[in-house]
Amino acid sequence: MTKKFQNFIDGKWCDSKDGETFENRNPAKWKEVIGLFPSSNTEDVDQAVESARSGFKEWSQVPPPARGRILKKAGDILTARKKEIAKEMTHEMGKVVAETKGDVQEAIDTAYYAASETRRLFTHTAPSELPSKFATTMRRPVGVAAIITPWNFPLAIPSWKIFPALACGNAVVWKPSKDTPKTADIFTRVLLESGVPPKTIQLVYGLGESIGEVLVKHPGIDLISFTGSTGVGKKITACAGIIKISLEMGGKNAVVVTPSARLDLAVEGILWGAFGTTGQRCTATSRLIVHKEVHNRLVSNLVYEAKKLKLGDGLKKETQVGPLVNESQFKKVSSYMKIAREDGADIVTGGKGEASEGWFFEPTILDNVQPHMRVAQEEIFGPVLSVIEYEDFEEALKIVNNTEYGLSSSVYTNDVNEAFRAIEKIETGITYINAPTIGAEAHLPFGGVKGTGNGHREGGWPVYDFFSEVKTVYVDYSGKLQRAQIDNY
Ligand code: UN1
Repeated sequence: MTKKFQNFIDGKWCDSKDGETFENRNPAKWKEVIGLFPSSNTEDVDQAVESARSGFKEWSQVPPPARGRILKKAGDILTARKKEIAKEMTHEMGKVVAETKGDVQEAIDTAYYAASETRRLFTHTAPSELPSKFATTMRRPVGVAAIITPWNFPLAIPSWKIFPALACGNAVVWKPSKDTPKTADIFTRVLLESGVPPKTIQLVYGLGESIGEVLVKHPGIDLISFTGSTGVGKKITACAGIIKISLEMGGKNAVVVTPSARLDLAVEGILWGAFGTTGQRCTATSRLIVHKEVHNRLVSNLVYEAKKLKLGDGLKKETQVGPLVNESQFKKVSSYMKIAREDGADIVTGGKGEASEGWFFEPTILDNVQPHMRVAQEEIFGPVLSVIEYEDFEEALKIVNNTEYGLSSSVYTNDVNEAFRAIEKIETGITYINAPTIGAEAHLPFGGVKGTGNGHREGGWPVYDFFSEVKTVYVDYSGKLQRAQIDNY
């Protein structure tokens, strides 16, 4: 019998109101159904938001350091269960266990960072322009946060949002991706076990098209934090109304390799950035912009190494690249092979899928790509690297910026001037020097410019600004009316 999972709404585990469910399947063996999960409707969302409002009343009164103790405990539980959770995650979304362990670790780091931040949550105090008057600022929780998360980092990304939301005193209504619902079940149970009060966290499963819009339009929602496609991000902005929204969307991240670079280091970094997580990261390396002097050597080394990567079930020890997450991703990635050929690019390795058991797609390198081609412009979200040759460094930086996105970038160089020119001129939220485009750390700001985001950052200190509201306080102890801008001039 297939295991049936439930929503967590109003402090209780429950089916969706109309009993509808959806299946979660193993991407490495797509015939295997992992579980059935509630396909929720408007009524479920209504109940979750209403209950979260009462959860918010209670949780917002808990002093931040006391909230921090609970978050620390969540970090401890995740630490104790890291391996087991990693395996569950690999089972439902495919990436190899070393990477799902990294995913759990990112959530642990975020828990401990959030816990310690509850003893800071600093604000500014500034002098008043008037005598005997005190001026300061304080943070307040915002209210009920709608958290909408993707499948590629089933624990890390929810943790980036949920831990800071809770640290700041908000309640959460969480809609996880339909492709990673089991990790969401696990994380919700960890939060409850740590002591998060039941109504403070509501888990509502469902398909984006049926409950996503209801959730973001709901009048009981005060802020939205979303990671996913630029298309959905635009829709959220269009229908959410005047509330705080944090959007983290697509990327078309490039690595530039200059003639002074250490090529061995570049090869390792590019392989990891392009084919780690089967290329399914917003930060994945999807373009390589390489100087013509080193082009042939670098590409042949990359092809040689890419061919050796072992594709297979992420639960097997020997596997280095797991399957794509589902059929639609498989079809999407496959369709880009035809597009690449038609546009005149050369598939120098990979290019084929094998879907008899799981959604496997070979690590693929496309050479002779021109900056305007679709494979150089569109986010493929698979193990596909497009190689573009350049002659002049300034031209290379222009190619990096010639995309609608702006998340991550990397330059391999041993020329300090080139490194700093790149840092100054590249239009991305994150730039790496001599390191791959992936691998952001939990305590530093994460996010992008242009089509990638809307100015907010996740991770690090800025996320605490997003999840709190600043109140300015003036205390006049002069015992008389003092008119600012008038009596003192
Ligand atoms: C994502 O791909 O959406 O920097 C997140 C990285 C990871 C997070 C990626 N720490 O690649």
